This record gives sequence, structure tokens and C-alpha cells, in this order.
Amino acid sequence: MSLSIIILAAGQGTRMYSDIPKVLHPLAGKPLLEHVYNTACLLTHSNIHIVYGFGGETVPDQMKHLPVHWIEQREQLGTGHAVAQVMPDIRAEDQVLILCGDIPLITVETLRPLVDAAGETGFSLLTVDLDVPAGYGRIIRDAKNRITRIVEEKDASRQERAIREVNTGMMVVVAASLQRWIKALGNDNAQKEYYLTDIVSLAVAEGVKIRTISAESAFEVKGINTRAHLAEAERYFQLVQAHHLMRHGVTLLDPSRFDLRGDLEVGRDTVFDINVLLEGRIKLGNHVSIGANCCIRDTMIADDVTILPNCVIENAIIGRHCRIGPFSRIRPDTILDDDVHIGNFVEVKKTDVGTGTKINHLSYIGDSEIGREVNIGAGTITCNFDGANKHKTIIEDDVFVGSDVQLVAPVRVGAGATIAAGTTVTRDVKAGSLAISRVAQKTRSGWKRPNKG
Ligand code: UD1
Ligand code: CA
Repeated sequence: MSLSIIILAAGQGTRMYSDIPKVLHPLAGKPLLEHVYNTACLLTHSNIHIVYGFGGETVPDQMKHLPVHWIEQREQLGTGHAVAQVMPDIRAEDQVLILCGDIPLITVETLRPLVDAAGETGFSLLTVDLDVPAGYGRIIRDAKNRITRIVEEKDASRQERAIREVNTGMMVVVAASLQRWIKALGNDNAQKEYYLTDIVSLAVAEGVKIRTISAESAFEVKGINTRAHLAEAERYFQLVQAHHLMRHGVTLLDPSRFDLRGDLEVGRDTVFDINVLLEGRIKLGNHVSIGANCCIRDTMIADDVTILPNCVIENAIIGRHCRIGPFSRIRPDTILDDDVHIGNFVEVKKTDVGTGTKINHLSYIGDSEIGREVNIGAGTITCNFDGANKHKTIIEDDVFVGSDVQLVAPVRVGAGATIAAGTTVTRDVKAGSLAISRVAQKTRSGWKRPNKG
């Protein structure tokens, strides 16, 4: 039997009070729906159907990269009605796994036994015991502990509301039966909706045995209905990631103050101080040290690099033994070779920096190529923009740039040249020469400062 997966994602998420459809709200930098999709993919690569509705084409437009079958549910008439939209596209002999786009933390380890259980009786349901079951459909069982139906909270009696076993919304049903039961659903209930959960009593009436699987962790099956739920799920997810990293040889000084919104590949003995935020695709080597309050996105960092506190680094490649920060900003398309030092209040953009070069204080280096063993003095600025176009600065090996220098691009400084402090470089400088453009100093002795009038 092959598996089809339906992800329900048409709801508005009223309690988010948002203009964005709920399933597009990000968890660890990725839409809720994408988390569910990624888990679904671990079970099947084809036959994933997503039901969308609220927000019109916004959800499929923003999630175009997912190779799924999108089905619109024009009016959100309930979970049963949502599933009905997909049934014509599903083969009768398939098993159908139903997931919710707003339950992002569900794991494949929980879903696999659920799918297996349905193989035995044709119907399995994932339930969970909650200390506070409010908001969920309650599982009603008979004297022999067999499930007989699900009652939604709004339709439940006081006794039923006291039941702590709830419906997670996730189930596996053979398509032919699902199709038959869906057709039989009515909407005579408190919410005037076609409840998918009503298929339980229809199945029981036909003598079908429903296997229930109990989720190990309540977190995994929690639906996101409010921004508070979203924040709780984010913290849980981050903590799971943090512990995974620690098990693989990474030190986190405080796992509750480490955030990864993307994918991290990392070697051994890399240390993260507090409040580090990593985004996108990050690759770090061995023995890397990341200081407090650093934000790093889409970057590769080689072995034995030290990033001091408060650096912002984006889309860069950083070689071995580099030392960066504190308070450095490395902008996109920067490549630092080995042993480069970038110090405080230095901004580097779209620049290649050669081995052993130092840019230690208060500089802007953009659209440049800097050679090996170059010293860039404090307050050096590449004037790369003429108001219309960007131009390149090339500084060859072993150049010494004194403090407070402006390099007006396009310009090239030859190998071994020296640029005197305070110079504005407007023309190319030959290798081995000295460029100096400052006004000669005058000194007047016995100078009287003006007095206050
Ligand atoms: C549903 C279940 C409830 C369960 C809970 C678990 C029903 C009737 N109730 O309740 O038993 O405890 O989930 O989270 O199924 N959706 C659509 N189209 C619709 C309505 C909903 O696609 O017309 C989608 C939503 O986007 C969401 C999912 O279905 O992803 C669940 O809908 P929601 O309204 O959140 O159902 P609950 O009332 O929470
Ligand atoms: Ca819900």
C-alpha cells in the first residue's frame, strides 16, 4: 500500500491576530508549514497534498519551492470538508496520513508507528494525554477502553471536558473508507462545520477497530494557535537543536541563549558564548570560538577562528586562525584568507583579504582586493561610490596604509608601498613608493586661544 499525505493548512488562525496566514509564520526561520512538509518528506517523496484557503494564493505563492500538490479550499467549512477537497486525487487503495500545517514539531519517529498501526486495521489515530486539555477534541472510550468517538470541546458536556486524552488531529486512514465516511459527514454541531473527527464514530459503526497511538511528548503534537504558542514552540525547538549540537561536540555556554534559524554544520570543540544567532546555511570548522551577541548568516568559518563579541557577519568565507571583532561587521561577498585580523568598528564588504592582513580599527573597506601581510591603519576608508557607480580598490602585498587614509576608487596601490597617515589617494601608487598628500604643518609659537565673549 502506498502512502498519501494531506496537510491541512487552509485555516486563518484567528487567534494569531495576523494578516499573514498562520502556517506562514516562521519557527526557527522557516514557515510552520515547511516544518510539517519536511517531516512528511521523510515518509514519502511523492503524493503530498496541501490544502490551502485563507489568504488565497499567498501560501502556495510563498511556498512555490515545495514540490507538492496544492488544493484550494475556497470556504473553510471544517477539517472534514478540507480533506474532501483532496479525495478525488487520491487512489482508493492508498493509506492517507493527515497532518496539520500548524503542528510543526511532529517527528517522523512518532508518525512511523502511526502509519504501521493503520496497516493492521485500516485506521489509526494519534492521541495525547494533556494536563490541560482545553481547546482540543476529547477521546471518548467505552467500558472496554475502545475509542468510540471524538467530541469537540465546543460540543462537549462537562464530564467530557474533564477527559485528558485528546485528539492531536493526526491520523492514518485507508482512502476508500475515508472517502465513504467523509461523504457521510454532516455539520449539525456547535461550529456548523464538517468535522473530520466525526469519521471516528462512522468507522466504529462499521465495526472498524481504531488503533490509537499515544504521543510521547506533548510538545510534538501541540498546535500553534496563538503567538504565545509560537514562542513556546520556538524555545522548545531551539533547545532540541542546542542539545543535539552539544551531543556532537559543541560547547554552548547557555543552551537557552543560542538560536539557530537554518542549517549548521560544525566541527568539534567549537564554543558559543551567550546570545549567538545563526541564520541560513552556516558551516564552522573545529575549535572555533564565537563570542557573545554575534549574528552570523550564510557563512563558512574555517578551523581555529576566534570571533569576539558583538559581530555581525553575513555571506562571508573566513579562513583559518582569523580573529574578528569585537564589534566588526562583515558584509556579503567578503573572503578572508588565513590569519586575517579584523578589529573593532571595521566594516568590510565585497572584499578579498589576503593572508596575515590586519584591519584593526575604525575602517570601511568595500569592493576591494587586499593582498597578503597588509596593514590597514585606523580610520581608513575606501571611497568606492562616486554617487552613481561602485569602483574597486586594489592594495597589493606588504602595503602599509597609515591612519586616516582615503582611497578614492578606482585605485591601485602597488606591492610594498607606504601610504602616509592622512593621505587622500586619488591616483595609483607604484610598488615600493611612498604616497603622502597632507598639507605641510605650520607651527605658530605662543598662540593665544580666543577667550569666551
Ligand atoms: C482540530 C480537531 C480537534 C483536535 C485539534 C488538534 C476537528 C474538528 N477538530 O481542532 O479534535 O484536538 O484539531 O489540533 O478536526 N483547516 C482547514 N480547513 C478548514 C478548517 C481547518 O484546512 O476548513 C485546517 C487548519 O488550518 C488547521 C487544521 O485544519 O491546520 C486544524 O484546524 P483547526 O481549526 O485548528 O481545528 P481545531 O479546532 O484546533
Ligand atoms: Ca488548531
